[in-house]
Order: sequence, then C-alpha cells, then structure tokens
Amino acid sequence: MCGIVGYIGDLDSKEILLKGLEKLEYRGYDSAGIAVRNEDGVTVFKEKGRIADLRLAVEDDVTAKTGIGHTRWATHGVPNQLNAHPHQSASGRYTLVHNGVIENYHLLQKEYLADIEMKSDTDTEVIVQLIEKFSKDGMTTAEAFRYTLELLHGSYAIALLDAEEAQTIFVAKNKSPLLVGLGDDFNVVASDAMAMLQVTDQYVELHDLEMVIVKKESVEIQKLDGTVVERDSYTAELDMSDIEKGTYPHYMLKEIDEQPGVMRKIIQAYQNEQGELEIDQDIITALNEADRLYIIAAGTSYHAGLVGKEYFEKIAGIPVEVHISSEFGYNMPLLSKKPLFLFITQSGETADSRQVLVKIKKLGHPTLTLTNAKGSTLSREADHTLLLHAGPEIAVASTKAYTAQIAVLAITAAVAAEKAGRKADFDIVHEMSIVANAVQSLVDSKEKMEQIATDFLSTTRNAFFIGRNLDFCVSMEGALKLKEISYIQAEGFAGGELKHGTIALIEEGTPIFALATQKAVSLNIRGNVKEVVARGANPCIIAMEGMEEEGDTLVLPNVHPLLTPLVSVIPLQLISYYASLHRGCDVDKPRNLAKSVTVE
Ligand code: G6P
Repeated sequence: MCGIVGYIGDLDSKEILLKGLEKLEYRGYDSAGIAVRNEDGVTVFKEKGRIADLRLAVEDDVTAKTGIGHTRWATHGVPNQLNAHPHQSASGRYTLVHNGVIENYHLLQKEYLADIEMKSDTDTEVIVQLIEKFSKDGMTTAEAFRYTLELLHGSYAIALLDAEEAQTIFVAKNKSPLLVGLGDDFNVVASDAMAMLQVTDQYVELHDLEMVIVKKESVEIQKLDGTVVERDSYTAELDMSDIEKGTYPHYMLKEIDEQPGVMRKIIQAYQNEQGELEIDQDIITALNEADRLYIIAAGTSYHAGLVGKEYFEKIAGIPVEVHISSEFGYNMPLLSKKPLFLFITQSGETADSRQVLVKIKKLGHPTLTLTNAKGSTLSREADHTLLLHAGPEIAVASTKAYTAQIAVLAITAAVAAEKAGRKADFDIVHEMSIVANAVQSLVDSKEKMEQIATDFLSTTRNAFFIGRNLDFCVSMEGALKLKEISYIQAEGFAGGELKHGTIALIEEGTPIFALATQKAVSLNIRGNVKEVVARGANPCIIAMEGMEEEGDTLVLPNVHPLLTPLVSVIPLQLISYYASLHRGCDVDKPRNLAKSVTVE
C-alpha cells in the first residue's frame, strides 16, 4: 500500500519522480504528491486522484534536482488533497512521504505535539512534526529523525527532505518495503525497483530498522544505534518490456495472455539438465518430514492454496490445512506435532501473511514462501523460497500469478511424492505442456469470452459461480475476479451449498457460472444447475471436453483432471475483464483496492 520514490542528482527530478510513481500506482492510487527542493526551498504538489491528475498540477517552471514522491492508498483519513503526501512540519522545514501505519501516532501526538495544529488526519503527519520538534529542541536532523524512529510503533518506509540541508534525502525502513538505487552522480529511493528502472538497475536492499543518508554521490546505511552497515548492491533482473503494457490496452489482458508462456517458463525453471523436475532438496526434505502442511495466504493466493491442498494430499500424501492469513495469526488452531508452513504470496509483502510468519518463526516451526518477488520480505524471512517465475504482475487483479502458483504447487507436490517413493500415475511435465496449449487456445478465443460477458453480465447486479471439488476452488477465484474489477456482486459456492440458503437470491435471469470439469461430480453439478434454472437462473455452463452436454456455453480443451484449474480459470478471467471493460470500469486499477497490501 502506498509507493514512495526519491531522487537526488543532476537532472530535474520532477519527471523522474512522476514516472516512478506511475510504476508504483499498483500500490495505491487514490491521491499522490511530490516535493522538490531547489535554491528557493521545497515546493509541494499534491492532488486527489491518479498520477495523471498530479501531473497536471505540477508546474513546469519549477525545476529541482532533489525530490520525493508518494502514491497513496488511504488508511488514516479520506483520500483528499490535504491527506495526500508529502506532509510538512509546522514551519515547513521538513517534508516527508511515508508508506506504512504508525500504530501509536495518537499517543505520540498527545505526548509531544499537543500544541501543534495538525493539518491532516494522517498518522504520517505526526512523524514529520516530531522530527521538527526534536530538531527545535537542539538535535541535528539525523538525530531528530533517528530519535523519532525509535518512538514509532508500526510499519514505515520514509523519505524526508530538510529545507536547510539541500544535499540529503533521509530514508528509513521498518516492515514496509524500500530500496536504494545507485547511479553515476545520482541516487534514488523506491518502494520497488520497477519504479526507478528508468534510471538504474543497481539496487541495495534495506533491512528493517535501518536509516539511510542518501546523497548525490553516496549512500550510507546505518542501524538505528548509528552503526554503519556495509551491503553490496544487486542487479534488478527486470526488463523495461516486462513492466510496460506494450500494445495492450490493459496490463490485465497482457498478463492473461502471458499465461501459456509462464507455464512453459515454470516447467523449464524447475527442470535440471536431464529434463527431470528438481526442487531444492531442503524444501523437499522439509515437506516430507512434516506431518502436516499449513498453507497461509490472502486473496487470490488463498484460492491457489485451496488447489494446492488437493495436490499435496492427492499426489504427495501430505495432509494440508489452508488458512486465511488475517484469521490464522489471531486465532491459531491446534497445530500438529511437526508442521511445515507454506506462505503463498505473489508480492511477498502482504502484511496479513507476514504477521503469521513472524509468529510462526517465534514458535520455531519451519517456513517456506512461494512468491513472485525474489528478495521480498516474506522470501527473506522464511527458511526457504520457491519462485513463481511469472514476471511482474501489475494489474491489481491477479491472473498469471494465480496460475503460476498452482503450477509450482503441482510440480512441488509431484517432486515431493517422487522423492518419498510414491509412484505418480501421470507425467506432470507432459501434462503441463498440454495445459499450456489449452490455455493458449482459450486466450486466443477472446471474441467468444467477450460475447459471454455481453450475454450474461451486461445488466445484472449479481452473479454466482458454482463448482464441486477443484471446480469449487476455481469458482471462488472466478467470483473474486468478477467482483473486484466489475463491481458486480459475485459469490463462489460449492455447487451443493447454494440450495442451503443462497438460492433465495436467484431471480429471473440471475447469471450462474457453473464449472463442470470433475468427472466424479459431473452429475451432481448438472443437478445443481437444474435446481437454479428451475428458479429462473441464466446458466453459463463451462464444461471439460468429454463431459460436455448440448447447450453448454463453453467447452474447455481436455487436460489432466488435477490440472483443470489452470484451464477453467482462463475464461473466468477473460469474462471478468470484458465485463469490467463494458461497464467502463478502470480494469487495472479497480476502486478501493491495491495490489500490494502492506497494512493489516
Ligand atoms: C491484494 C491483491 C490481491 C492479492 C492479495 C494477496 O488484495 O489485490 O490480488 O491476491 O492482495 O496478495 P499476495 O501478494 O500476498 O499474493
């Protein structure tokens, strides 16, 4: 949530900051601002809305070689210009951007800032006012900053400008992600390397409770006790083309189309030179030594976890529980004797999942993170990491990360099974390549998917998705996709469960998307469809080839029964995309959401 950037160098910083913020809009996009510093002092521009709105507000004739910027997802205070960052101290000397939540901001305000009139409703303003207070008490800016950081409880990535200290951006991090980027005669700060790839691919990772003095020609990382930390930089393995839309109208469509390629890349990434599947032996040992696997995740990743449970239980014989991270951390069930924890998180930054990881580490249990973001917080902090190899996913609605998660879970379960001496009854590499072809043929059928969106979703205010077994898992993901980007109220249900209450909502024409890919329950789901049709529902039946019946809306290419989620989700992604498009919604940046949710 929220993205921050900073630049100090020889170029005019405005455009670099604005471009950087555009790349961070996935982190929040309800308001934005930049502050730039030149010989006349610090000038702040901020606006409610998107970076495009901010751009219009930024004056061309102000040039400055140092600046910081922020794109916001509101936590404290409504999204408006006043609450947008940067925030300034009472005298205007200090200007600050912040990503995170300061839990004790009220207490700090009462204790130290009773005589200061706050200009905003944010927790962030307290930080900048405290820095000014301590500097007025006689501390240098670095001292005041450090002293303030020690008082803060919560998460922060901060960049701070001092109007009286032109050569420095003061930076700090705790729990929220933050990197420093290195250049020749300039340095930058960013929540994500993507933002500053325009100027550098060299980055230094920051750890929690570190403070950084960033100057044009130097970067000094310190711990909060002042000890200097030496850390090597790394090259960000990102290509500009990975993070651009290219000729696509939306990132979501680009990412849907990338799925066959991602499938193939995953197979390659997890194959050794002999063409055998290979996963880090320590991970396989941890899996096979565990008496139970606990999958912890949020949102779409949770839905992938539900499919993963089927794989670990059916392929590898490992009992699995899947939990929503925000619930698990505060209401932990009785754990088994030898648990292994698997965190599934596209971003590797989700605060709900991280708080569980912190607790589990305290309990001393082994941990594994499945993520798309190498070097992300949950990857660094877990004992082991499995990578998704999906490439950057930028649209807020997750598509290729979901299928990549399922593919890696299937491969991992298959390798664990093989190492444990369980004979698999299918060749997963072969079956996955059939899946990649099936996905390709579905993403090539966009006209058909658009027609379905028109036929079923043009005027409705709600929609239901039903399925049984693996199809139930995919139904939940289908409903999430539709509601998050089209705002049509949508729910995913186990086919048999609808009649226990929700069927009361079925009216003449209510769309029901029914998945029929599981042979064992094929008759049951057909029966469930009949029940809703008898009450006026408009059914869109998506069946696997070989299980289709006359009148079905869409027939999916046949794939192995355990891998059907990789295929059946594709039409649901595309139908949601077109429903959103037809309703004039912002497909890539749906209202109220953010891609990386770094607050609980
Ligand atoms: C947000 C995103 C979802 C995502 C969820 C979990 O809510 O909008 O698309 O599934 O976070 O994110 P993670 O990065 O942990 O997979």
